[in-house]
Amino acid sequence: MAKYVINGGFPLAGAVRISGAKNSALKLMAASLMTTGKVTLHNVPLIKDVFTMADVLREIGADVTIGPDSVEIDASGELSHTTPYELVRKMRASITVMGPLLARLHRARVAMPGGCNIGPRQINFHLSSLEKLGARIHADHGFINVATNGLTGDVISLDYPSVGATENVMMAACLAKGRTVIESAAREPEIIDLAKFLTSMGANISGAGSNTIVIEGVEELGGATHTVVPDRVEAGTFMVAAAVTEGDIEVEGINPLHLEIFISKLRAIGVDIKEFDHSVRCRGGGEYSSTDISTLPHPGFPTDLQAPMIVLLSLARGHSIVTENVFENRFGFVDELNRLGANVRVSGHHAVVHGGSRLEGTIVEAPDLRAGAALVLAGMAASGTTEIGHIGHIDRGYENFELKLQALGADIQRVETSDRSHFIAPFN
Ligand code: UD1
Repeated sequence: MAKYVINGGFPLAGAVRISGAKNSALKLMAASLMTTGKVTLHNVPLIKDVFTMADVLREIGADVTIGPDSVEIDASGELSHTTPYELVRKMRASITVMGPLLARLHRARVAMPGGCNIGPRQINFHLSSLEKLGARIHADHGFINVATNGLTGDVISLDYPSVGATENVMMAACLAKGRTVIESAAREPEIIDLAKFLTSMGANISGAGSNTIVIEGVEELGGATHTVVPDRVEAGTFMVAAAVTEGDIEVEGINPLHLEIFISKLRAIGVDIKEFDHSVRCRGGGEYSSTDISTLPHPGFPTDLQAPMIVLLSLARGHSIVTENVFENRFGFVDELNRLGANVRVSGHHAVVHGGSRLEGTIVEAPDLRAGAALVLAGMAASGTTEIGHIGHIDRGYENFELKLQALGADIQRVETSDRSHFIAPFN
């Protein structure tokens, strides 16, 4: 149990190095179950979700060693097809062990996933796609059971470019017989990263990053060494941090092309961004303008950066309309932001941000991972002291968050607390 205590008003300055992407590292760890060879992953962020995924893999029977520079996974021993309920329901990404286990063991029993409370987050696309590859599916006692006598490639046309479903199918199809075509596939950089990793394990995949991915099944996959793609959401969070504190920072170790629409929106608001091959310089200050934003699957505006952007828009001149198209319930943090003095009104999947607010510190709670990070940004922009509870959500996805912010000049402290009001409800 911990909270952040932030004294706002300090412009951030200096350079920050971005970690590997949570949303890639977790899937690469799951994919490692498909080989008896040794896997070494570099640039894995040491965050709570990575430790949870390591525990999921260990419960299944893999050896996982987490070091400062790499994570090593050895799944050469006998594996269990059952994934532990207590671990899986903490984190939705655990569902991506289903495809690998089905491919390797021909069966999997996976607890229904948990994670952030940002909508129902169903898994119907995962299941119907695996069914098409030859899996039989039934649910009991909060578990999904999938089994097959052997997977066979097919054409899978997703109704929506779901990131998780694309990943699960791509992994299962690597060891299926024949060719699998995923139409309307997700195009996120993390999908490309997973395809690169699987290819280095011996898979035959083309088209990752486009909306049609073709996988030719192979007999087996081998061990591999891979470096995780940079975390574009962490990068975006720090860029907004520079903007809301009127700071000037270099965000290093990233691929700016992964953030094109996000960067164009920051520029439209009035943030000065200079792009380099592997970094951006982000300078805030002056008067910001309103702009409208609609979240969409990649390459559209990322839903994971919607909450930080609302904080920035609440400081801009004029009204902005933010439309959330990816997840329901992703405006849950707005009430907390308004307690800091913002003026944001939500109607269905639209939020109207009445800009020009002067934020003032108070006590708030992080309702989920990205919204929690957004409240930290708001606290740094606010006058006075802000306390943020439930920061376990933030620990799920940001490596050394307060240490990186402190190095940039923020006044932010992690304070351990026995205050039950800051107890982390595990399934929120
Ligand atoms: C991943 C990311 C998350 C990001 C999201 C969209 C991880 C661990 N999480 O989540 O940070 O915000 O992509 O970029 O990588 N849906 C269904 N049925 C399904 C699957 C999805 O209805 O079978 C719906 C979801 O409820 C949601 C939307 O589709 O409304 C998008 O989900 P999806 O793209 O699958 O996101 P995740 O993989 O869960």
